[in-house]
Amino acid sequence: MISSRALELQPSATLKITGRAKELQREGKSIISLSAGEPDFPTPTFICDGAIEAIRNGEHGYTMNTGTPELRDAICTKLKRDNDLDYSPDQIVCSNGAKQSVGFSLLAMINPGDEVIIPAPYWVSYPAMTRLAQGIPVPVRTSFEDSYRLTPKQLEVAITDKTRVLILCSPSNPTGSCYSKKDLERLANILRKHPNVSIISDEIYEYIVFDDKHISLLNVAPDLKDRVALINGFSKGFAMTGWRLGYLAGPKELVKAVAKIQSQETSAPSSISQAAGLAAYSGTLDKVLEMRASFKKRRNFMVEQLNDIDGVSCFSPGGAFYVFPDISSYLNSTTPLGKPVQSSTDLCLYLLNEAGLALVPGDAFGEPNGLRMSYAAAMDDLVEAMNRFKHGLSSLILI
Ligand SMILES: Cc1ncc(COP(=O)(O)O)c(C=O)c1O
Repeated sequence: MISSRALELQPSATLKITGRAKELQREGKSIISLSAGEPDFPTPTFICDGAIEAIRNGEHGYTMNTGTPELRDAICTKLKRDNDLDYSPDQIVCSNGAKQSVGFSLLAMINPGDEVIIPAPYWVSYPAMTRLAQGIPVPVRTSFEDSYRLTPKQLEVAITDKTRVLILCSPSNPTGSCYSKKDLERLANILRKHPNVSIISDEIYEYIVFDDKHISLLNVAPDLKDRVALINGFSKGFAMTGWRLGYLAGPKELVKAVAKIQSQETSAPSSISQAAGLAAYSGTLDKVLEMRASFKKRRNFMVEQLNDIDGVSCFSPGGAFYVFPDISSYLNSTTPLGKPVQSSTDLCLYLLNEAGLALVPGDAFGEPNGLRMSYAAAMDDLVEAMNRFKHGLSSLILI
């Protein structure tokens, strides 16, 4: 009854850990979870008000498949205001979240057997979505020393005759790394040599950038515009994960293909969420900046604490709300009861079961030497989480 497509799909590792964490909580154990991928703030009031007004105004019906003209106009205005990019409303498809935009873009861009280059560590959904579209994910392992950013050389080596798409995510989930102007210029130089390779540029964490301004591939390589699917949304910057609203901006041909797929699969996102998105893009960024300042304080705390631990190294990520420390020195160890800890999954299960701390193993993201900690949590919880982490690691017996 179940297709091989569904059977082959791996359940999300993040959900596995959060599931086990909930089980332990139900047993009465104290668990601190740094495994979630969502801001710990409520959606700003002015955005909620936009949605409430839409409900009261009777905006209850289906909207146009690609989103309301008002929201698509506002997205174009935003792309000009914040990103200095020119798009027209017929180049936008609003979706039920950036996740849907990435998935539908892949469906629209690749044929069975086409290769998709995915720098690792990667967001867990990229390889899964590629497989669902019958493509072949080609993870390219990047290095800690490069803050896990894909180098031009790594890109060049990975490209084959079958490569159709490169997925770039900046700021990155799970590492928080951001590509600089120079990084992007160098990658663009390689991409120019390979006109058959399109790019999915996932910029969902755009507003959570701490040190420099967010920079998009298209800012440094406007000539690639016909090959870039720019993905963004409201979940992270405006703390709107539950509203399910994202979008694709891209060349008209791609937009038409994605719109066709969307019209058969889901239709437009909720009319109420679209009204909320319109309010978000019509207002100021004050709330976004407040949340960002708070994330920055927490990032600094986490990085300082992690680098204080013997055998743990962590670079200071430029964005998002994750740190991704290297914990490889603890991977050849045993628990006090003699159970081997050989992988980041072993380590995370040990920390969850014995220290009451839920983290996501690097294995899930294609990087066995690391683990992901989300610092979208209250400062008190972060302090306690770091105590538990230190204590958990110091109880391991290194072989
Ligand atoms: C890199 C990345 N892209 C896309 C998404 C999906 O965002 P949305 O909530 O808009 O579907 C996430 C959410 O975790 C993400 O981390």
